[in-house]
Amino acid sequence: MKKVCVLPGDGIGPEVIECAVKVLNAASDQLEFVQADIGQAEYRKSGTHLSRDTLDLMKSCDSSLFGAVTTSSSPDYESPVLRFRKELNLYVNLRPVKTLVHLPQRPPLDVVIVRENSEGMYTQQEQYDDKGVTTLRRVTREASDRIVRYAIDYARKNGRRKVTCVHKANVLRASDGLFLSIFRELMSSEGSGLEASEQLVDSAAMKLVTDPAEFDVIVTLNLYGDILSDVAAGVAGGLGFAPSGNLGPKYSVFEPAHGSAPDIAGKGIANPTAAILAAALMLRHIGLPKEGQAVERAVSEFYSSGHLTSDLGGRHGSVSFTEHVLKNLGR
Ligand code: NAD
Ligand code: IPM
Ligand code: MN
Repeated sequence: MKKVCVLPGDGIGPEVIECAVKVLNAASDQLEFVQADIGQAEYRKSGTHLSRDTLDLMKSCDSSLFGAVTTSSSPDYESPVLRFRKELNLYVNLRPVKTLVHLPQRPPLDVVIVRENSEGMYTQQEQYDDKGVTTLRRVTREASDRIVRYAIDYARKNGRRKVTCVHKANVLRASDGLFLSIFRELMSSEGSGLEASEQLVDSAAMKLVTDPAEFDVIVTLNLYGDILSDVAAGVAGGLGFAPSGNLGPKYSVFEPAHGSAPDIAGKGIANPTAAILAAALMLRHIGLPKEGQAVERAVSEFYSSGHLTSDLGGRHGSVSFTEHVLKNLGR
């Protein structure tokens, strides 16, 4: 049996995670679940958005499935997402985004964003002075090396042909320059058989919208990966279409790339596709690849048979979408 820690969170987090857990239960009888609070519900209980006990529980499981949290405006707020990424050493953020439904004006895409998940603009070190604020942005050889190696390895194991380094080394000459030089070195020493390409982040954002077939695997720094994965999601149909896996040497946490979407929470119209595809990524990661593939097929079949979710103007809300996926899974 594999043990999964379920962290529904805030807003639409619990709505899409409920759907994903139903699908997981239908896809495999090898799973057991434990559940914990994260975000506002946890804060009301314990005064922290992610407790030490929950982190320990996550560590005791084979993986975790997380919904989303709403960021608090309180000055002493510590993001539970950034905390679990750091505490569990989840240095990779894997974000595959693929077109499942062909939409007017949106070219098909099938891109895997490998986002550096531990440093860059996310050091959370910001210092006030009398004129303003300085933020520490950190790029290390170690973190750049391991993320580029991950991207190369991912490309090879998943039959991908090209790895594009997305950077801003024309301005951030030293830091992004370091990331880019490590990419170049590793692609020439380890990347045989793979095409290496480079793209500045601003034009990469444009090309993801106009010509996404340019891209296969993208390896990039933390904030660029955050932004580009939402751009890619938008091209595929919206934020309901981008799953995400936070991966490290020992632990993993899977989540939809989207947030808590307070504008649609409670309406039953959140698209659970990203959460369910995140659950499928989790199945693959914990050694249930056939089950993961079956879930991906069941989701894709929903769209290929002409159905549409509410976010795309269709009539299927979270529950009805999930019923179709369960039926496609043969349940
Ligand atoms: P968001 O991703 O929550 O929503 C952006 C837009 O996309 C909204 O219009 C929303 O309705 C739509 N959307 C998102 N997911 C959808 C889905 N599954 N189906 C249909 N539509 C969907 O981003 P935001 O509005 O910028 O942020 C809201 C809150 O979420 C903020 O507090 C933010 O900090 C937080 N956030 C949390 C996470 C996380 O917990 N991992 C990620 C991103 C944002
Ligand atoms: C994401 C989110 C997070 C990020 C926030 C909630 C800390 O936007 O997972 O994409 O910026 O990484
Ligand atoms: Mn984001």
